[in-house]
Amino acid sequence: MPKLTIDNITVEVPPGTNVLEAAKQVGIWIPHFCYHPALGSVGACRLCAMKFLEGPVKGVQMSCMIPAQDGMVVSTTDGEAARMRQMVIEWLMLNHPHDCPVCDEGGECLLQDYTVAGGHGNRRYRGKKRTHTNQYLGPYIEHEMNRCIQCYRCVRFYQEYAGGSDFGVMGSAARVYYGRFSEGELESPFSGNLVDICPTGVFTDKTARFRARYWDYDMAPSVCPHCSLGCNTIPAARYRELLKTMARRNDAVNGWFICDKGRFGNSPVNDPKRPRTPLIDGTEASWEAALDALVLRLGEVLEIYGEGSIAVVGSPRLALEGNALLPILAACADGGVLSFFADAGEADRTATAVSLLNRDNAAGMADVQAADAVVIMGGDLLEEGPMMALAVRQAWRKGARLFMVGGDGGVVLTKTLGLQVTPLTSLAAAPLTEFRNPVIVCGTSRAALDEIEVAAGAGAKLACLLSGPNAFAAAMLSREHGAPGLSQAIAGGTIRGIIAFEADIPPELLADIPFVAAADWLPTETVKQAQIFLPTTAWVEMEGTFINNEGRAQRFKQVMQPGLPIKGLDPALHPPRVHGRVAPGSDVRPAWQVIDALIERLGGERIVEPLGNRWEKLHNLDPEGGGTRVL
Ligand code: SF4
Ligand code: SF4
Ligand code: FES
Repeated sequence: MPKLTIDNITVEVPPGTNVLEAAKQVGIWIPHFCYHPALGSVGACRLCAMKFLEGPVKGVQMSCMIPAQDGMVVSTTDGEAARMRQMVIEWLMLNHPHDCPVCDEGGECLLQDYTVAGGHGNRRYRGKKRTHTNQYLGPYIEHEMNRCIQCYRCVRFYQEYAGGSDFGVMGSAARVYYGRFSEGELESPFSGNLVDICPTGVFTDKTARFRARYWDYDMAPSVCPHCSLGCNTIPAARYRELLKTMARRNDAVNGWFICDKGRFGNSPVNDPKRPRTPLIDGTEASWEAALDALVLRLGEVLEIYGEGSIAVVGSPRLALEGNALLPILAACADGGVLSFFADAGEADRTATAVSLLNRDNAAGMADVQAADAVVIMGGDLLEEGPMMALAVRQAWRKGARLFMVGGDGGVVLTKTLGLQVTPLTSLAAAPLTEFRNPVIVCGTSRAALDEIEVAAGAGAKLACLLSGPNAFAAAMLSREHGAPGLSQAIAGGTIRGIIAFEADIPPELLADIPFVAAADWLPTETVKQAQIFLPTTAWVEMEGTFINNEGRAQRFKQVMQPGLPIKGLDPALHPPRVHGRVAPGSDVRPAWQVIDALIERLGGERIVEPLGNRWEKLHNLDPEGGGTRVL
């Protein structure tokens, strides 16, 4: 490992580490724009200057471009290097519009920070500024090209990292333009990362435009609920409105990025149609009345139809805290039939996939990125787990061979991510033995049971795409308790009452069920059919745990207080002049607390800690700790 000295501090770093990163490791942060750990170095911005005093390299150099080597003696405080950085900032600011007061990047802008850090406070340039025309890039991303400092991060992410072909850099010399090559919306399903990756305000989140400054936000470490991959996020809310979501780094899961579905899927939380009050037969009621009515009606169903006539239904989107309590609730409901999946086929496929995964063969996105061959089967990657497709692209960029069994043979992946995929008719045709590190990525929504079994026995690591953020836990619980899919239980003919917790049950399954109760935060079809409804918190309004597709348990923190967004109450009162003790629409509860209240009413013991017994090791799970594998 190369050992070098930076500002009189000796540091040893892994081979290949650049001097800029080596300095970070000893707490020295030198301004830099074009270098990004996920994108590498290009030496475009010229900002990361350090003075190399001794060793194989001498003089003022761009530290991002120099690999750390034995014997280097480097100074970041040397006057020549500091002057260079100050001048570069001044050059970069020549054409910058200084429109910070109306820029959504303000407060979280690297250009602001480094201008201050670099000591450039006196504007000497009196010439005319270069200006550009902005493009309409679609409903999600605002374009303001005048703010550009030509660091090339956007184009490197969009084209190289994400394989997009509709956006890039045009022009030459002092007049370069970063935008779409023709009119239209950005096509990459990862385009939202431009917002995070641009160090200034060229690309900002249009959905949160002019709504808040960085310091106004309620933020907390969270986990994306929109598929089973469990990408780490930082949702940002203000005035009880979820305004935007940013990527949170987790090298074992999503790296630095997230997909657009995860970034821009916030509107259901703020939806004015979101149900927020308990209902009995469509009429608003108090929590006490609704819980009492639910227990009463359960009793009536049990009296008429007998033991085993109630189904207690969890779901792949219900957090572990809720799903884990359902076996207790089912026992309290006179042998209630437990189910964690609405569809029996989905229940079987997910349970089979999870049963075939173990600590050695389960692959996460980091394993896929490191693979030398990836076989994709059984699904639509971009639909079922978009970031998995991005991980496949990183493997391909490093030389991995890609194969696709069935489906469209990789046509969409080629078009969207620029990948070269070899189509196969069956998994047996994949030359897995020719590779040292092959991974099979299997979508479980379309693969047949025996295909999943064959994939697990093929001698490669296996990454399964499941049906929701907590499908893995739902499958573990299903197997543990022998819980069938709800459709199978209903087909048995004995189910006459259903209590559904954040479960999406097709209306046709409920058609002949006399009594349905639902607890949810979304206005689903199941909620619409329920005689008793109990409103729950969205994931950003509670603390909870999801187990992702590789069996990694990850804790998410409460980001915001529940309640109607303040802007939705009365525009004339914005910001509110009167603060009530209870926010309107805030009387919603985490699902596990609803389950606990029912258990207590049915004669069970009060639950203090929802993750008991086998889940105890997750009690102290750190939301910022990267998660822990439960396999
Ligand atoms: S648009 Fe942003 S990311 Fe792209 S080159 Fe300009 S400053 Fe860099
Ligand atoms: S890949 Fe899935 S978990 Fe990750 S950001 Fe996209 S929708 Fe969310
Ligand atoms: S960060 Fe080194 S030249 Fe831009």
